[in-house]
Amino acid sequence: HRHLLGIAALRPDEIVTLLDLADRYVSQSRDTRGHAQTLSGLTQINMFFENSTRTQASFELAGKRMGADVMSMAMQASSIKKGETLIDTALTLNAMHPDLLVVRHPHSGAADLLAQKVNCAVINAGDGRHEHPTQALLDALTIRRRKGRLHRLTVAICGDIAHSRVARSNILLLHKMENRVRLVAPPTLLPSGIEEFGVEVCHDMTEGLKDADVVMMLRLQRERMDGGFIPSEREYYHRYGLDAEKLAHAKDDAIVMHPGPMNRGVEIDGTLADDINRSVIQEQVEMGVAVRMAAMDLLARNLRARPSEIMA
Ligand code: CP
Repeated sequence: HRHLLGIAALRPDEIVTLLDLADRYVSQSRDTRGHAQTLSGLTQINMFFENSTRTQASFELAGKRMGADVMSMAMQASSIKKGETLIDTALTLNAMHPDLLVVRHPHSGAADLLAQKVNCAVINAGDGRHEHPTQALLDALTIRRRKGRLHRLTVAICGDIAHSRVARSNILLLHKMENRVRLVAPPTLLPSGIEEFGVEVCHDMTEGLKDADVVMMLRLQRERMDGGFIPSEREYYHRYGLDAEKLAHAKDDAIVMHPGPMNRGVEIDGTLADDINRSVIQEQVEMGVAVRMAAMDLLARNLRARPSEIMA
């Protein structure tokens, strides 16, 4: 692939190849002193039009730990504020010959659009409600390392599915890898027609968490709710917030995941989130660096193998 825009375009064997490489990068991703030269001579530009802590920091660290020249644009201070469009901004940066463009944008389809306009490889770091492929890949790596496999698991994805690109990318990935995916949410937070993705739907945590190997919690994404239904936090926590009592319906060795940022006491109990016997939330963050190293390594191999096509 020339770009990494979504899980939808990846075959199961490509997912396994990327995860195998990411697994090998885990120890290197922890090495803050010795820098690899895998991306040496390449320029990576990060363009985040939406707030980020984990994704932006891990893409920056991944690039630096592989020897790339990394520039993270401060989009709030860019000429976007003077009315320059997304496309013109991307074309401007493209004229400076970057090799990798990492993009986060509030509009679904923004990364795909940019990929059609620029010469370099584009990585989607989250576009609207559409996809967040590196998040699903780091979640998959965490699950595979904890459970020893990434197939025939029961994964409950709970909360605000309707506004979540993380849920969408995870549903696509977990379905491709032949897992049982159960979505647990109030009807108002489920997109219509979601059953077509090969998932089961539950509106109740007791039923939804039954025999789950993995429980993945999602934040209420108020920034994408367009003034529509916003549940009261108290009522939401009572019915859908994960605590030890609700988790007891899952398997005894079920792991608790959350892509972050989390809202303690809204979708998850703070003590449970910090319980290292159940929660793998910090491990997910750590795997993020390794997965992003692997993704950029594979795209760079493609850049080096076919420079004429990329530069055309
Ligand atoms: N999970 C995730 O994308 O977090 P950030 O918004 O902090 O990057």
